[in-house]
Amino acid sequence: MEKITVSLGYRSYPITISAGLLKYSASFLPLKSGDNAMLVTNQTLAALYLHKLLTLLNKADVKIDYVILPDGEQYKNLSVMNQIFTALLQKSHGRETTLIALGGGVIGDMTGFAAASYQRGVRFIQVPTTLLSQVDASVGGKTGVNHEMGKNMIGAFYQPVSVIIDTDCLSTLPPRELAAGLAEVIKYGIILDSEFFQWLEEHLDAILALDSKVMRFCIRRCCELKVKVVEHDECESNIRTLLNLGHTFAHAIETHVGYGNWLHGEAVAAGIVMAAYTSEILGEFMSVDTIRIINLLKRAHLPVRGPTNMNAEAYLPYMMRDKKVVKGNIRFVLPLAIGRAEIRTGIDQNIVIKAINTLQNS
Ligand code: NAD
Ligand code: GLY
Repeated sequence: MEKITVSLGYRSYPITISAGLLKYSASFLPLKSGDNAMLVTNQTLAALYLHKLLTLLNKADVKIDYVILPDGEQYKNLSVMNQIFTALLQKSHGRETTLIALGGGVIGDMTGFAAASYQRGVRFIQVPTTLLSQVDASVGGKTGVNHEMGKNMIGAFYQPVSVIIDTDCLSTLPPRELAAGLAEVIKYGIILDSEFFQWLEEHLDAILALDSKVMRFCIRRCCELKVKVVEHDECESNIRTLLNLGHTFAHAIETHVGYGNWLHGEAVAAGIVMAAYTSEILGEFMSVDTIRIINLLKRAHLPVRGPTNMNAEAYLPYMMRDKKVVKGNIRFVLPLAIGRAEIRTGIDQNIVIKAINTLQNS
């Protein structure tokens, strides 16, 4: 079993990583006999894991209720989130309750935001079930929902009390979702750790085959890298922005094509290549490194271009609403080498358009 601590003073919490954590007992969850809790999940996860988890929680004498939301990025909004509040009120949950998010980033982000706002804040536990949520979304306390005009536009920084990562969950994950998670994994290598990037080049086949030892190392390394960043800059005033490599482009794609049509990780993959092209045009990034990135993303079965029906100019209005915009200036995360990235402002929009066009026509 791997354990990492996120050190944030009185809001510190553990991340526990192991195979089979959801199998035998609820003892890994920070809940005791007599505690109230509300489990939040979706239809897909309910069919796979809900019954088992409820049985374990009942055995541990936890008073557990649950709410099942519809499955999909298109349901990550305030009106669906309201179903969590309705369930909590119907079952008379008070401030002492704990929410449990059982699912991917969509369930985790919505449950976290519900926990941040229900009766002005209750505890919540992350039980991430996708690779993307195990390496990224469940860690660091970004919670929230989409608005039809922009991704993740409404939310709060609100840390969970514990993150429980059962790597066995990945065995039921569709291959397209596994690939989407790999986009965030590869992102860590590009922005923070060239050795890890090289390790990914060497171990990608084992990752795709879900080799348990390789998977555990991969998830652990990503969590370690993210934790270090979050501990330094919890609310994204500076270096946490680096974790958004490719995301300015990605959020434009996701909003433009309609939530759920491109998976978040797929849009991030295309966005990473757009960021690499932008950096190359500025003379800051070597084309051999762009090629290494493209090759790795392709091997992970990820797209390396944006949607064919989205022209470069179409990205701009979405980019101007990006949360990284400061006083009308878009801030971009640009790779400078494999393992090193920087936040840049004042980049000429024509360069960004040129980067997208060059990529789309390549
Ligand atoms: P998701 O939550 O939509 O899950 C992907 C799909 O896989 C869903 O259909 C889900 O039901 C299914 N699924 C989940 N676990 C499964 C399992 N073990 N077996 C079978 N099916 C399973 O998508 P995601 O990629 O996990 O998360 C994407 C979301 O996370 C986006 O909304 C993104 O904005 C957000 N995100 C948040 C952060 C953060 O820091 N809070 C970071 C990255 C991404
Ligand atoms: N996924 C980016 C962040 O958590 O900051």
